Amino acid sequence: MNRRKFLYSFSFSAAAVIMSGCEKGSDKSVELDKKSDETQKAAQEAPKNIADNKFEPFTQELKIPKEIDFEHVAKAKFNAQKSLTALYKEKKTDVLTFQGDLPSPTIRIKNGDDFELDFTNSLEKPTIIHWHGLLVPETMDGHPKDAIATQMMKEYRYKVNQRAGTFWYHTHPHGRTGEEIYYGLAGLYIIEDDNEKALNLPSGEFELPLIIQDRRFDKEGNLIYKETPQDNNGVLGDVVMVNSTVHPYKNVKNTKYRLRILNGSSARTYKLAFEGIEDFILIGTDGGLLEEPIIVKDILIAVAERIDIIVDFKDKKVGEGVTLKTLGFKEASNFVTNPAYPNFGAKMDIMKFKITELSTKNSVDIPKKLSVIPRMKESDASKSRTITMEIIEGGVWTLNKKPYDMYRVDERVKLGSTEIWEIKNSAHMAHPFHMHGVHFQVLERTSSIDFPTDKGWKDTVLVMPLESVRIIVKFTIPGLFVHHCHILEHEDHSMMANFLVE
Ligand code: C2O
Ligand code: CU
Ligand code: CU
Repeated sequence: MNRRKFLYSFSFSAAAVIMSGCEKGSDKSVELDKKSDETQKAAQEAPKNIADNKFEPFTQELKIPKEIDFEHVAKAKFNAQKSLTALYKEKKTDVLTFQGDLPSPTIRIKNGDDFELDFTNSLEKPTIIHWHGLLVPETMDGHPKDAIATQMMKEYRYKVNQRAGTFWYHTHPHGRTGEEIYYGLAGLYIIEDDNEKALNLPSGEFELPLIIQDRRFDKEGNLIYKETPQDNNGVLGDVVMVNSTVHPYKNVKNTKYRLRILNGSSARTYKLAFEGIEDFILIGTDGGLLEEPIIVKDILIAVAERIDIIVDFKDKKVGEGVTLKTLGFKEASNFVTNPAYPNFGAKMDIMKFKITELSTKNSVDIPKKLSVIPRMKESDASKSRTITMEIIEGGVWTLNKKPYDMYRVDERVKLGSTEIWEIKNSAHMAHPFHMHGVHFQVLERTSSIDFPTDKGWKDTVLVMPLESVRIIVKFTIPGLFVHHCHILEHEDHSMMANFLVE
């Protein structure tokens, strides 16, 4: 019995217990046990995944998304469609794309410029694009209620009005966001401004976007999504892709690189570190640059969060390699999801940087002062509210015990006001909490785990098991927006709510 099979059967019974606990009082648990038995048998006969024998890590060169730079184009066109593409070698698999191929393009635009994009839905079901982290009017935000029918077109038109940073876009139809992002409908959205330009951070070939996503493949090398009911707790894969390239490598020079990292996974939190490099510098979070750079050895990044970091390969010789990996950690979950795949805090390799050239240029210094972040004070807030994250009867993930209703207003907020939201996690699993239409600051959290990202502007914050996180937020855009857990299966499931700013 190989190690994978052993782990599989060992952890299996624990998962069954958790699930049947959630399904108390129904026959479902029995059915579930039977199903899982079958799954277990199947897995023992033939491991589902081809990673062990067929995916040779670090043999694929990292793909870099093509850019749509609004300095040169006036308007972009996206068409959500089924496509065939190769994620590993020549083997093609069914995916979803905006322009026919993966990775999805990176949008690059300057603060103050007009964004214009015509979006056509060529999928079979309604969908909508959301600009994650962008402060845009309600009609442009991509609320699930605004999903457009198949073969319909939506014109996105807005002026970018916020500081520089690394944002992203993805589709957001209620109940199908997880599947659509999984198959490809997500990309990066970079905003630039003069303040950031003046800092002279590494750019051009020294600035790399990295979208990290764990995935599952079947024996033939096709992407597969949900397989068992446990997957409603979050789909975890055993094959890590960066920019739609399976376990890639990237040739680099022995100098500083700016990495804009997005966790675009379904459920997995990563604790990122570089094997062979002690520390690196955090310069930015979801909402752009920090005030000052922070030196870190590793960093947690939950689904939907972005980190902007500087890594320096200067001590490496040509021919050496540096592996970007996620360290094993236990703090975020004792939840077992699908036991056939590495669990929530598993240790995994992600990609390798191969030093292939000496740098000829002098490496740039990272300024001590990066930006100004006006701090909101508790006394600015006129109201406090509590949002609880919990799983209710039937194993349904919710906010404040209410399954999501697209048209129900859950929180009414006064336009222009500042509030404190206390996000309370009553589950034994970490959840990334996200809000549309705002950026917020983290005031405090009850656990002692260090989150250097709490020092910057945020739109998504990881709330650890049984933890409370207090955030402060100013509401400046009127309209109906959502707040939700960004584990994609949780938001699809029901862990979402509406707030109305008026
Ligand atoms: Cu990434 Cu509702 O958003
Ligand atoms: Cu969002
Ligand atoms: Cu969740």
